[in-house]
Amino acid sequence: MTTRAIGQHFDTADDAFNWANGNAIGLILIRLANESGIVARLLSGPASVAELARASGLPTDKLGRIVDFLVAHELVEAGEGGLLQATPRTAMMHEAASYIRTLDLTFPMGLEMLPALRSGKTPFEAAHGQPVFSYFASHPEQAANFGRFMGWMTRRIERFIFAEHPFHPFGTVADIGGSGGDLLLAVLGHYPGTRGVLFDLPEVAERARPAIAASPLADRVEIVGGSFFDAVPAADLYLLKQILHDWHDDECRRILGRIRAVIAPEGRVAVIDHLLSDVPAPNESLSTDIAMMLWDTGRERKRHEMEALLVSSGFRVDRVTANPAGHSVVEAVPV
Ligand SMILES: C[S@@+](CC[C@H](N)C(=O)[O-])C[C@H]1O[C@@H](n2cnc3c(N)ncnc32)[C@H](O)[C@@H]1O
Repeated sequence: MTTRAIGQHFDTADDAFNWANGNAIGLILIRLANESGIVARLLSGPASVAELARASGLPTDKLGRIVDFLVAHELVEAGEGGLLQATPRTAMMHEAASYIRTLDLTFPMGLEMLPALRSGKTPFEAAHGQPVFSYFASHPEQAANFGRFMGWMTRRIERFIFAEHPFHPFGTVADIGGSGGDLLLAVLGHYPGTRGVLFDLPEVAERARPAIAASPLADRVEIVGGSFFDAVPAADLYLLKQILHDWHDDECRRILGRIRAVIAPEGRVAVIDHLLSDVPAPNESLSTDIAMMLWDTGRERKRHEMEALLVSSGFRVDRVTANPAGHSVVEAVPV
């Protein structure tokens, strides 16, 4: 899937204004529709504006104008008798809510970006006073929202991974920095008879426990808290999804070094990250690359940069399943 270059909206003042204003107001209203409960209410069945106003505590006249925007932009539908109803796009708005909430953190980083880059800090630290994962440790609500956002990212990419990148037979898979366990559970569901280890920072691992316990696959999962800079559990397939892109090369080599120290000779590491195209294109990878410049010390990498990183950490790249639309899979074996 190609995205339209932003510059293509800058041929006329009308287009430039409508692109900027439509996106800004659209993001604000999608957020409001989710936070006020309107989206959830519509997903449970059709409702009038008056009913939505009562349920959300919003004034009916202003809500009517907000709903006009959502209907005009084809996010909800006006059906029989003026009742509003959900469409698959309304459900997608619900899915996107966690990402849109992360913008509460991102916009302040944008404000700090110029002085932060000039002084060598990350914009996240400049805006929020500490590195992202320490910040999350003391802001559990933001951390839980980030976990939901990661779950959405995983659901977006699962189908591609299972269709395009079958894993070699394995007994135990460890998802390193596995967040809420969405990817691990999906992999265990796809590969019957295997076992999985969810490894993440202690507070993140604890937060994942209830959802894992509620899964029918719970008895195949072990949850382990710790830091991948110190040690990782033993497994024969390691997943690193959206991990290496958070860190600069030396930090990545420390993480990969911990895996290299315990991986069996026939073990495998699957790095699931965006790969930058050799020629810059207006795709998802380039935006997530800049997002990493805002959030932490990491970056997206070109294929040859990822390969060099793995080689300098004691691995050989065995297979690459490239995905120009999103995350690719780079699978490596120890040498
Ligand atoms: C960008 S998220 C990716 C989450 C998950 N792999 C996914 O793709 O959905 C990065 C993850 O790394 C975890 N993490 C950060 N520092 C860590 C550390 N030192 N040890 C273990 N996990 C860490 C975070 O808690 C978070 O879950």
